[in-house]
Amino acid sequence: MSPVPTWYQTAVFYELYVRAFQDSNGDGNGDLRGAIQRLDHLADLGVTCLWLLPTFPSPLVDDGYDIADYFGVHADYGTVEDFRALVEAAHARGMRVIADLVMNHTSDQHPWFQASRRREAPYDDYYVWSDTDQKYEDARIIFLDTEPSNWTWDKVRGQYFWHRFYRQQPDLNFDNPAVQQAMFDIARFWMGLGLDGFRADAVPYLIEREGTNCENLPETHAYLKQLRAFMDAEYPEAILLCEANQWPEDVRPYFGGDPDDPTVLGDEFHMGFHFPVMPRLYMALKRGDRTPVVEIMGRTPSIPVNCQWCMFLRNHDELTLEMVTEEERHWMWREYAPEARMRLNLGIRRRLAPLLDNDRRKIELLNSLLFTLPGSPIIYYGDEIGMGDDIWLHDRNGVRTPMQWDGSANAGFSDADSLYAPVISDEVFGYQRVNVVAQKADPASLYHTLRRFIAAYKSQPALALGDLRFLDHPDPALLAFERSYEGKTVLCLHNLGEHDVRVAVPDGQDMLADAPVSAGEVSLPAYGYRWLIQ
Ligand code: NOJ
Repeated sequence: MSPVPTWYQTAVFYELYVRAFQDSNGDGNGDLRGAIQRLDHLADLGVTCLWLLPTFPSPLVDDGYDIADYFGVHADYGTVEDFRALVEAAHARGMRVIADLVMNHTSDQHPWFQASRRREAPYDDYYVWSDTDQKYEDARIIFLDTEPSNWTWDKVRGQYFWHRFYRQQPDLNFDNPAVQQAMFDIARFWMGLGLDGFRADAVPYLIEREGTNCENLPETHAYLKQLRAFMDAEYPEAILLCEANQWPEDVRPYFGGDPDDPTVLGDEFHMGFHFPVMPRLYMALKRGDRTPVVEIMGRTPSIPVNCQWCMFLRNHDELTLEMVTEEERHWMWREYAPEARMRLNLGIRRRLAPLLDNDRRKIELLNSLLFTLPGSPIIYYGDEIGMGDDIWLHDRNGVRTPMQWDGSANAGFSDADSLYAPVISDEVFGYQRVNVVAQKADPASLYHTLRRFIAAYKSQPALALGDLRFLDHPDPALLAFERSYEGKTVLCLHNLGEHDVRVAVPDGQDMLADAPVSAGEVSLPAYGYRWLIQ
């Protein structure tokens, strides 16, 4: 018996980068009060849950994923009271809010690290220290372009410290019960402001053990189960969303429950990103061949009935190519990132629209897959209007430029003379052309297409909750599948190729055109898609 679906299983998420969204005080940085002013845009689009990127005090070496104080808000973004006000304002519009919980590491400016360097109790053992940098050699380096090692020497303490990301982000020692407890206290503080849960950052790396790759260890899962038990006891409506950039079979344990029986409720994370399907959507589109998507979904284990995948096309990071073969990665780089500046670590630092040559048909096609494949869709801010990127900016900042609200100076984002990052102003993607006001006024815009997708998605629970069954077709360009739930079936057709594809369909209703379809052959034009309900 499946339990009543819970809110997150049918949610439409929006990834909101506060710094980029709206500047309310003219200092050139987006802030929490500014985000409040723009919430109506998201409610109007149909979003039901916001995911806020980190807003903590931070030196911003990793844009806030380097936390200097877990109990505050960065001065550029506002105050803790502003944070509470944003959550309340979202709730008032029927939207939930989750925020990043960065557990694996802090900033090197965090007082815990400063005390630990000086071996001060009780922080002496809060980080992972070693006399040698020859430990845990099987652990890969993630920020490959910047960091030569996961160990950095600290001259104050006279030891090396462990870090899976930038050297300015020392890893916390999760073998220390005080660290484990500290994270519960942090979660409690933010939940007290009304949050609906957390996107838990970088969870595979919490614990290290010699002779392993230090990812997905049983000890890490044991701690995460404790975190879930704590959340369930104190905040039973809240969710934990797992960020584990891993193969589906390695993500499966993060849901908990029983791997052989999906009716056993999950007891670790409610949700998990499906990382490997994402690059395969781009691969399948470029090749005009459904195989990569069908294969990865076929290799995706079933998850407990109370859990849900999260699907995304792009996010604030590089489009990661960690979950593809080396050959595929080089192919993806050649096809999607021909210039060196478009590449970063094992990925591609570009936005959705430029990746797809700003071809409206391809942008709609991938969005259609975002809303019809299993898993809750997450829209990255700006992708609802097809924003561009700036490959001349450092690191991942090129995909984090100011939101383009209108055609006025600074795109309506800010009154300041100087912004945290330049607004995109080129001929194709510039704010003068690509902005919210213009797209709202044009019923044929991408914004309105996505709005229709969201409305249709919400009207039919099969898209959120239904089983998935791929259909065969002689043309590899046709990606066709059914989503079935409680006697309703949605037939989803996608033409990944540049030529027309004909496909036989039964009687039904076209959900997007809101028109009946009679049994027979339909013709899908290049990059065409249909959602047919029977
Ligand atoms: C994943 C986040 O998405 C990314 O932006 C960050 O750099 C790393 N975790 C480290 O916190």
